[in-house]
Amino acid sequence: MKNLIYLLLVFLVSACSNNRRDAIIKDNISVIPRPLSVKVSNNDFFELNTVKAWVDGKYNSVFTDTLLYAIDLNGIKVEQKDSANLVIEVDESIKPEGYYLEINDKRIIIKAADASGAQYGLTSLKQMVVLDGKKLPICKIQDVPKFAYRGMHLDVGRHLFAVSDIKKYIDYLAEYKYNHFHWHLTEDQGWRIEIKKYPKLTEIGAYRKETLIANLYMEPQKFDGKRYGGFYTQEEVKDIVRYAGDRNITVIPEIEMPGHALAALASYPSLGCTGGPYEVATKWGVVADVYCPYDSTFMFLEDVIDEVIELFPGKYIHIGGDECPKDSWKASAFCQNLIKQLNLKDEHGLQSYFIQRMEKYINSKGKQIIGWDEILEGGLAPNATVMSWRGNEGGIEAAKQKHDVIMTPESHCYFDYYQSDNESEPLAIGGLTTLDKVYNWEVIPAELDRRNKKYILGGQANLWTEYINNYSYLEYMAFSRGMAMSEALWSDAKNYKNFLKRYEKHNNYLKSKGVNIANHLYDIKANPTATADGSIDVTFEGLDGMKVLCSDDKGGNMMVKIDEKYKIKSSGKYTFTGIKGDKTGRSVRINIELHKGTTAKITSEQQPSEKYFGGGINALANGIEGSDVKYSGNEWLGFEGTDCNLLFELPQSDSIGQVDFRFFKGEGQWIYLPKSLNVSLSEDNKTFNDVFVSDSIVADGKVAKIRASFPKSAAKYLKIQITNHGVIAEGRPGAGHKAWLFVDEIKVE
Ligand code: ACM
Repeated sequence: MKNLIYLLLVFLVSACSNNRRDAIIKDNISVIPRPLSVKVSNNDFFELNTVKAWVDGKYNSVFTDTLLYAIDLNGIKVEQKDSANLVIEVDESIKPEGYYLEINDKRIIIKAADASGAQYGLTSLKQMVVLDGKKLPICKIQDVPKFAYRGMHLDVGRHLFAVSDIKKYIDYLAEYKYNHFHWHLTEDQGWRIEIKKYPKLTEIGAYRKETLIANLYMEPQKFDGKRYGGFYTQEEVKDIVRYAGDRNITVIPEIEMPGHALAALASYPSLGCTGGPYEVATKWGVVADVYCPYDSTFMFLEDVIDEVIELFPGKYIHIGGDECPKDSWKASAFCQNLIKQLNLKDEHGLQSYFIQRMEKYINSKGKQIIGWDEILEGGLAPNATVMSWRGNEGGIEAAKQKHDVIMTPESHCYFDYYQSDNESEPLAIGGLTTLDKVYNWEVIPAELDRRNKKYILGGQANLWTEYINNYSYLEYMAFSRGMAMSEALWSDAKNYKNFLKRYEKHNNYLKSKGVNIANHLYDIKANPTATADGSIDVTFEGLDGMKVLCSDDKGGNMMVKIDEKYKIKSSGKYTFTGIKGDKTGRSVRINIELHKGTTAKITSEQQPSEKYFGGGINALANGIEGSDVKYSGNEWLGFEGTDCNLLFELPQSDSIGQVDFRFFKGEGQWIYLPKSLNVSLSEDNKTFNDVFVSDSIVADGKVAKIRASFPKSAAKYLKIQITNHGVIAEGRPGAGHKAWLFVDEIKVE
């Protein structure tokens, strides 16, 4: 018995220490996306200097194409398995795209059932060698992706990139185990693929006379005055598709219809309902002119699809389907007749007819369609896969209808959004999609029940290039968040802190290779919160062990730890800078203006949209104004289609005579000034006296600064009613939808 207990103890102790070692070494393996399981059996190492590889014939292409160019090592192939220090072999029992990687004291063994798995095993090995060194831990890695579809998209309609740059983008996708490249080839702003039967598509449709260079909602809009354009020849397309295929990446072409078709209409005006003339768009957005559902339009599109199918061997053709305004169909006698003739309900029915007719054609050629989630409107085409971009709802609905779904909600997957609210960020379309937000994205919507989850094939990041006009800018916007996304799509065992350690190495490595990857690792987030005593507590977020240098505008400096608070007791300009060892992040500058509202407890009848939640309701009176030029960040709160009715409760009754408001105006983004504004005061939260009522709120620039002044009176409670503009008028961007209302600091004096 004693012996048994002794043996059990030994077993437990060794199991514990092995587990601990496991954990330590596992965390030292810098592979992204994080493998499913890493087991380290002892503390020994295997040193890999010159590769002598034996490769199963099935994986020859994987080895030659991906390993040697990537691994930064010399290598040869050998005939005898016994003399190899790297063996790559077939194991049919491994799941699709999975691999087994064993490093023992004699050699490295990679097993996979398919070329993707073999490539991923080699990629993981390569990352270990490059980032952790040639002394490799003795270990066994078992790995398999969580999702079968792992995509990245690239819009070349707004801006196009050299073939060599697209290949670099594909290399990046392969490095992070993506398996689909969604290539958005046609847009209002440019048609980018050679179609031999319709040469005007690239003679006319591939060029625009100029390009918008500042925010869409800047008035007047700013253009560069330079002709811009280009396209990919069919030979170039074939080259790119082959290059991607060699890296086990399927290219999905997107040919947009019925909307986002202005470049095609400019080339062949008879494709539109009015017959034109049309001009290739010079700015991004939603354009009212779309394909008219004439038989001749379908013949044109079928011809285009015929040529496209020849170039792309994958099973999917993406036909867009998003953002198709119905104005031109409403005004067209032909369309109205067609609606009657086909017994359709309305223009949405016509959109569904359009998509279903194209689906039938594409299915007849042995291919499947993918469409953005608007293809649900008016009835889903029978075999369509849905890309859910306007949130999760489209994906949930399509999965309930038992259709395959690719999740790509703009809240987490749009890499044209800002990735930081630091003032030095280059121009982006809006929004704020940070690295941690991407990392923590749950691909499968929680609302889906177990039976329908299987329809979620995976997810995708979208890179729209409204402002991304060169490859270096593309790297900046996509490459950091692309790593986080790869782990969200691949790994079951997500852990952001653990990811950051590996990410830091990848980021530094890519930087050392000249890649313009964004590095916000040493940036800190400063979260100011108003307290009841009238001061502001600033807490920080950043890497463990960081320090923050806090400076005020009177020459005061103070260093605090990342998990400590900094207290602000007087108005002024404050600067916070994160420091880690010899690394310094970008400074955060905050202008604090303490006022009576910063001491108030605020309640709101409506919640801001999750997409523009900023620092929460308290950000409305924390002494800090948001940006005058953009509505992303912590200070602006966005209410989607709702009013904003607030109650401020002051700690005690005070004399109040003025309230200042800030509202954002960006009608191109569906952001409207409020219809009316009402302030009333009360001592007892029962009887309120109106002190300010306005129904004519105007702005000079993008921000309306409204001052409500009234005779001073004593109040403990302020009721503030901000009424949403309501439904957007016909002919304006977002027509028919309720407007967004953006509210910033409410200053009470
Ligand atoms: C989209 O972003 N319009 C799909």
